[in-house]
Amino acid sequence: MSIINDKKERIQWFQDARFGMFIHWGLYSIPARGEWVRSSERISKEYYEQYFEEFNPVNYNPKLWAKAAKEAGMKYAVMTAKHHDGFCLFDSKLTDYKSTNTKLHRDFIKEFLDAFRAEGLKVGLYYSLLDWYHEDYLAYADRHHPMRGNEAYKNKSHDFDRYLDYMHGQIRELCTNYGDIDIMWFDFSYDDMAGEKWRATELVNMVRSLQPGIILDNRLEASGESYGSIKTLNPSIYSGDFASPEQIIPPEGVTDCEGNPIPWEACITMNNHWGYCSTDKLYKPAKQIIRKLVECVSKNGNLLLNVGPNALGEFPVEASQLLSEIGLWMKENNKGIYNCKMSQFVKPEWGYYTKNKNLLYAHIFEGNIGALPLIGLKDKVKKARLLSDGSEIKFCNGWNTKEFEKDLFINFGPIDTATYPIPNHIDTVVELELL
Ligand code: GLC
Repeated sequence: MSIINDKKERIQWFQDARFGMFIHWGLYSIPARGEWVRSSERISKEYYEQYFEEFNPVNYNPKLWAKAAKEAGMKYAVMTAKHHDGFCLFDSKLTDYKSTNTKLHRDFIKEFLDAFRAEGLKVGLYYSLLDWYHEDYLAYADRHHPMRGNEAYKNKSHDFDRYLDYMHGQIRELCTNYGDIDIMWFDFSYDDMAGEKWRATELVNMVRSLQPGIILDNRLEASGESYGSIKTLNPSIYSGDFASPEQIIPPEGVTDCEGNPIPWEACITMNNHWGYCSTDKLYKPAKQIIRKLVECVSKNGNLLLNVGPNALGEFPVEASQLLSEIGLWMKENNKGIYNCKMSQFVKPEWGYYTKNKNLLYAHIFEGNIGALPLIGLKDKVKKARLLSDGSEIKFCNGWNTKEFEKDLFINFGPIDTATYPIPNHIDTVVELELL
């Protein structure tokens, strides 16, 4: 197999899929204050060790997770193989700090991959470039390490190249021992810890030679402040296949410096944490998440929605509930999401458009007074159908509508000038077949 050189070709499935699941899971599910807990509370290695000793997620059954993702309408999933705390959820030969050395002695990543593939989903692995466990990662002078500024670490020598050998070795293991990996999601670069500091050219060449079809995020060089060279006309070899805005939906999508769209995926949390946080009950309502998914697609982007499973290996109940609510809407309306992208029409006041070839999807969030205008669509639409049941939506005339020569009007009841509620208060999707 040769490397798929054409970016467009290897990214196609991803852009069609539009909706995926992020899974942040590790030892930090026990303290349950998010995946940064070791850093934010400056917890020592020795103290954090108790979570390694204790980790026993007896209810981990990724088949259930995969079913939940599929039911929600997701097409792919990305799980943390190693997060910043350095704990590996896979059976790496290069460390003892791994799930096969915890109470259950299981390779959680292998099980994740098997289960999600069995449901027909594409699979990705998140791999942290940072490592707060490895002796050769910088500590005292690093700005994120739990032992930053700690005098006891001041004169500790470390050999960063040895860490890089370890990191490259682990990525080689993930790309060799686990079958086809669809996405490798590196996280993250900061300050001068970017690009060649990770020996990124060598890394990307290795990954692509082992996994010819794999797609990569942009974080081998992107930081919180920049997308990296993916936006330039001469992207580096490690610039990635897609941009990865975090906890934000870019107001105008993501384009290169000449304004051409580039693939992107917004990753967002359901509450305000990636890793499990027992006290964070600020979950976004399903309605908001669905509408944000629509917004992403209308701007040529994907949504990667995170779940942070608990220490027992279960999805939080709130997360499961949200996934099934999203699934109910997706079941009826996924044609307005999958394979869709930005349309050529301006964003309507009542919601968004998405488009797949000659099918234009009107995502209506807010009903109108009287007939609802499709601005500029007069003589451009052959027919309109309610996506959820295929029923006819008639074109109509409202009060004075003749004045609006370029616009088309629809309504959701028999009397053109009357006001009716939209059939689905979350997002009513009307499929418009363009002429
Ligand atoms: C960040 C955080 C991290 C999380 C990630 C998800 O950069 O460090 O904890 O995994 O974003 O995008």
